[in-house]
Amino acid sequence: MSADTHTLPEAGRQGRWQPAVTKDPLLRKHGALGQSISRIEGPMKVQGRTRFAAEFPYDNISYAALAFSTVARGRISELNVSAAEAAPGVILVMTYRNAPRMKAPSLMMSSPTAAGASNLPVMQNDEIHWNGQPIALVLAETQEQADYAASLVTAKYELLPAVTSFDEAKKSPRQLENLLGQPPFVEIGDAEAALANSEVKVDLIYRTPRHNHNAIELHAATIVWNDDELRVHDASQLLDLTTGQLADIFGLDISKVHVTSPYVGGGFGGKCFWDHQILACAAAKLAGRPVRIMLSREGVFRIIGGRTVTEQRVALGARTDGTLNALIHTGTAAMTTHNSCPEQFTFPARHLYGARTFRIGQDVADLDMLANTFMRAPGESVGTFALECALDELAEKLELDPIELRRRIEPEKDPTTGKPFSSRYLIEAYDKGAEQFGWDKRSRTPRQRREGEWLIGMGCATATYPYHRFPGGAARIKLTEDGHVTVSTAVHDMGMGTATAQVQHLAARLGLPLEHVTFEYGDSRLPRGVIAGGSTQTASIGGAIIAATEVFMEELIKLAGNDSPLAGLSLPEVEARDGGLSHVSDSSRFESYQSILQRAGREELVCEAEAPAPAEMEAFSMHSYGAQFCEVRVSTLTGETRVSRFLGSFDAGQILNPKMATSQFKGGIIMGIGLALTEETYFDERTGRIVNASLADYHVPVQMDVPPIEILYTNKPDPQAPMGARGIGEIGITGVGAAVANAVYNATGIRVRDLPVTLDKLM
Ligand code: MOS
Repeated sequence: MSADTHTLPEAGRQGRWQPAVTKDPLLRKHGALGQSISRIEGPMKVQGRTRFAAEFPYDNISYAALAFSTVARGRISELNVSAAEAAPGVILVMTYRNAPRMKAPSLMMSSPTAAGASNLPVMQNDEIHWNGQPIALVLAETQEQADYAASLVTAKYELLPAVTSFDEAKKSPRQLENLLGQPPFVEIGDAEAALANSEVKVDLIYRTPRHNHNAIELHAATIVWNDDELRVHDASQLLDLTTGQLADIFGLDISKVHVTSPYVGGGFGGKCFWDHQILACAAAKLAGRPVRIMLSREGVFRIIGGRTVTEQRVALGARTDGTLNALIHTGTAAMTTHNSCPEQFTFPARHLYGARTFRIGQDVADLDMLANTFMRAPGESVGTFALECALDELAEKLELDPIELRRRIEPEKDPTTGKPFSSRYLIEAYDKGAEQFGWDKRSRTPRQRREGEWLIGMGCATATYPYHRFPGGAARIKLTEDGHVTVSTAVHDMGMGTATAQVQHLAARLGLPLEHVTFEYGDSRLPRGVIAGGSTQTASIGGAIIAATEVFMEELIKLAGNDSPLAGLSLPEVEARDGGLSHVSDSSRFESYQSILQRAGREELVCEAEAPAPAEMEAFSMHSYGAQFCEVRVSTLTGETRVSRFLGSFDAGQILNPKMATSQFKGGIIMGIGLALTEETYFDERTGRIVNASLADYHVPVQMDVPPIEILYTNKPDPQAPMGARGIGEIGITGVGAAVANAVYNATGIRVRDLPVTLDKLM
C-alpha cells in the first residue's frame, strides 16, 4: 500500500476541521482535557429531580400492558379478549383486528434513517413469528388493572413449522452479504494448509449462549397525540432515528413527531426501537388518550432482543517461537431473517495479531425467534472469549507466558487490511497491567495455589473495540450577553456522562469555566444528533462541536470588527482563552466574548455546523485496546468461582474524564463477569420460549459478585480522533470472559469452552 493512500482526503463541505491532533490546538495544550469531575446531572438524579420516560404526568393518562404469544410460529385462530374488555378499569383492548394501519418499521442499517430492530409488521395481521410476540395491548385506568386484564387474553393458534433449535438451524447456515459493512469472510493465504503444517497448534470450538438486556430502567414511553402531532417521551439511544421511523410508520411529516429522551436508566444497545413504542403510539391514537407503557421485566425478555448464540472455531498454528502461521476464526451466530445484528464475533481476529495466513469469517443460522440486537460490544465480547482463550491454550503448549506470546505476534500494521494503526499501545497496556496486578506471581502450571477449599488462579486476555465516528451529526453553539455558551445536539446521555464530557470539552475549547457552558441534548428538535451506540457518540459529537466552534470563532472575529484588538486576525491566528479570543502569541490583543457581543449590539450569536465525514476511518485501522487481568478462587467443594481481583488496563486514546471513564470501564467489566459466570438465557428448543424471563432466574452480577476492580490507562491521545479520544462504552466487557476462563484454568486445570463458567462444569 503506497504512502499517499493514507493521506486524509480533504474534509467534507460540512466542516473544515480535519481529524489530526497536530491541527487541533486544544490537544497540544497539556491537561486541557482529562479533568476528573463529577457528572453534572448527578445531584439532580440523586435528588429525584430527573424525569424518566415513564414518569411524565398527563391528565387522563392511561396505562398499557401486553399479552404475548405462546407459540413460535403460526396464525392466531382464536383470540379471546372479551374477559379483558370486561375487566375493571379497561379502556380498550387493541389487537391486530382493531389496531390502526401502520407501515412496518425498516430494518436498522437498511438505510441511514431506519431504526427497526426488526422489520416485521407490528400487530397488523394474525401471523406469529416468535414465542412472546405481542398479541394484544390492554389500556386501563391503572397499571395494575391493565396487567390483570392482559392476563385474561387467551388465544389459539394454527401452528406452522418452526425452527427453534440452533443445532438444527446451523445445518443450513445462511451466508451474509456483508458483516456490518465489512466482507463477511477474509482469507489471506491458505490458512488450513498452514495450520496443518504448523509445529504447535490448537483447534478448538467455543460456545456462547443467548443473553438478554436487563437495564435497571425497564423499557418505557409516555405518548400523547396533540391532534395530528405525536409527542413521545422515550428511553432511547437513537432519538432522531426513532423520530423518523415513527413518522414513517404513522405516515406523518417528520416535523409532526417530537421525541425526547433526556435521561435513560441504562441502554447497552437495548434501548433502541422496538414494538412497544409503536404499539403505545397506536393505542394512544385509538383511545384518544395519553398512554404510558412500561414493560414488565418479563416483557423485556419477550420483546426486546439481546445477544445471540454463537458457536466459534478458533484454530492457531504456530512455530515454536510463537509466531503464527495460521489464524483461523470462523463460526455461526443464531439470527432471524427479520433482524440485522449478526453478532460480529470474528471482528477482533481481523486486527489483533500478526499471522502469515488468515481465515476469518462467519455465517448465521436463522431461527424463528425474537430479533436479537446489539448488546454491549456485540460480537467483540463473545469473539474475544474464543480468540483469547485459544491464545491462552496455545501459550501453554508453547510453554510461553501468555503476555510474551502476544508480544511476539504484535503486528506493525493492521494484519488483514494493511492500513496503519492510528494509535496502538496494547503491549504497553499489558506491561502496565501486569506490573500493577502482580502477574509475576502467577504459577505457569495450573492448580498450584490453594487456600483451604479454594484453588486460586490468574488469567489475562486482550480487550478490543473498534473506533467509529458517525457522520451527519450537527452542533449549534449559542453565546448570550451574560457570556454563557449553550451547545445543542440531539444526542443521548444514558448515565455515562455524555453531557459532562462535552461541557468539559467545550469549556476547554472556548476558554470558559465549566459553569458557563450548558450542553443541551435528548430532544429531536435540536440539531441532528448521532446515535448512542457502538462507542461512537463522544467522538461523533466531538467532531460536530469542533466544526461548530470554528464557525463560531470566525463569526466572532467578524463581529469584533475593526475597532477590536482582534482586528485583521484570521482564525489560525487566534486562540480562545479566559472567556474571549486572543492573538496566539500577543496576549495583549484580547477581547472577551461578552465585549464583542456588546459592542456589536447583539443579544446573542448562534452558529451551527456539521461534523466532517469520518475520513480517518478510511485511512487508518482504528481500535481501542486493553489488557484484562483476573484472579479467581474456585471452591473444590462446590465448584463455584469467585472473582477475587480484577484489573483492566486500557489503551483508548485520551481519557476525557478519568472519574467517569473508570466508572464506565468498571461497568463493562462487571457486565463481563456476568457474561463469564452467570448470564444465560434458557431457550426452550421445543417451543422457542425463553423460560427464565426474570431476574430471579437470569443471573446478573450483584454487589457480592463484584471484586475490587482497578483501572489503568495508557492515556495516549489518538492523533486521528476528535479530542484524541476513542470510545470507551463497550471495550470494558471485551476480553473479560476469556480472562475469567483463563484464570479458572490456571486455578483448576479445567478448560471451560462454553459460557457461562458454571459450577457444574468444574466439578
Ligand atoms: Mo452499544 S451495544 O452499541 O449500546
